[in-house]
Amino acid sequence: MSNEREKLDPNKAGRKKEEIDASKKLRVGIIGTGWIAEEHVKHYLKMPDVQIVAGADLIPGKADAFFKEFGLEGVRTYPNHTEMLKNEQLDTVSICTYNATHAECAVAALNSGVHVLLEKPMCVTLDEAVDIVKAEKKSGKVLSIGFQPRYDANMKMIKKIVEAGELGQVYYIQTGGGRRWGIPTPFGTSFIQADTGVIGAMGDIGCYSLDMVLNAVGYPKPLTVSGYTSNFFGKNPDNFTSRGNPAEYAELFGVEDFAAAFVRLEGGIVLDFRIAWVMNLDTPGDTIIYGTKASLRIPSTDCWNGTVGGAMKIYKDVAGVGVETEIPILQGDAELFYLKIRSFLDAVKNGGKPPVPSEQIIINQAIIDGIVKSARLGREIEITIPEI
Ligand SMILES: NC(=O)c1ccc[n+]([C@@H]2O[C@H](COP(=O)([O-])OP(=O)(O)OC[C@H]3O[C@@H](n4cnc5c(N)ncnc54)[C@H](O)[C@@H]3O)[C@@H](O)[C@H]2O)c1
Repeated sequence: MSNEREKLDPNKAGRKKEEIDASKKLRVGIIGTGWIAEEHVKHYLKMPDVQIVAGADLIPGKADAFFKEFGLEGVRTYPNHTEMLKNEQLDTVSICTYNATHAECAVAALNSGVHVLLEKPMCVTLDEAVDIVKAEKKSGKVLSIGFQPRYDANMKMIKKIVEAGELGQVYYIQTGGGRRWGIPTPFGTSFIQADTGVIGAMGDIGCYSLDMVLNAVGYPKPLTVSGYTSNFFGKNPDNFTSRGNPAEYAELFGVEDFAAAFVRLEGGIVLDFRIAWVMNLDTPGDTIIYGTKASLRIPSTDCWNGTVGGAMKIYKDVAGVGVETEIPILQGDAELFYLKIRSFLDAVKNGGKPPVPSEQIIINQAIIDGIVKSARLGREIEITIPEI
């Protein structure tokens, strides 16, 4: 879960409507009409070249009620993604289901010849990610994964700094984030149950930390991982009741609330990763990219949501003197969520590259998959991403 919705300002559209060619409307379907689907629909409604024509949700009546809230009574609704894809001629879908069904929905949509904007995390295992990429390649359709922090000006700056060679050779990266209490149960239990979330803090917020740094260094492939996961806080009913939640949430809790890993990447980079939904600590530390010429410190946010928490600093040695250069916080010109959807639609319309491509995010998923497997085995494992 990210806090982006708090920051969204519906009056601050990203691009002027008149700049968008609305002569042909893209026919959009929404799969899963829960919490994040609201953000998708809110932003689709700002796009003059989009018509939301259909939606699906497994819970009877949920999709109807959802579209009614937006005054979209004309949208046809279905009891699942399969029925929707069978009965509709769609151009694109937003997949807004819980993690467990990302892969089956993405594969089905791509196999039906529909472009896909898939919410993060890409899916829950490396095998699923491979299936998605196979379907994508076979279909020739655009698949983009929903990492909106990518569009943040500060995130882009991290990548620019690395690519400009300011840090020299990057050899060690420390990343992750944490929340003192951030188990996302105000929004139901799909994040915490094993059959719906499957992965917990890693799929919710850990994938953002990984994307922040891996995107900056060009997404090198992982070679080995030694991972650890735990759920001490999620399994304790007192933690839920003291926050006004039902004690049963502890019983339902079937994912990790903390994960850590030591990952070796191609190119000799080592990644030290920690992510916590909950912990007895303010922060597990800033993100730091260590380089031979300079290092970059990226302050963590208090409640980790994948964004930069303050002015970044570059540390380097100048003629034998240690100096620090502060990079002021940069303001972007549009909402991140708007840009995520708009850039996907532009790629669909212009036959362009997916803005957040699967060839990168499969690496993110492979690391998470490796952490899960290594944690289960209690030892380091090798990671191999098959050629697709
Ligand atoms: N990008 C972001 O900032 C952000 C923020 C929150 C959540 N998310 C992601 O969005 C996803 C959904 O989160 P949420 O909080 O909206 O969950 P949610 O539980 O509120 O909604 C998911 C909905 O999908 C439906 N669903 C599941 N499988 C389906 C299928 N095969 N066909 C039709 N409907 C199906 C469920 O019935 C449910 O109503 C998660 O993967 C989460 O990681 C992203």
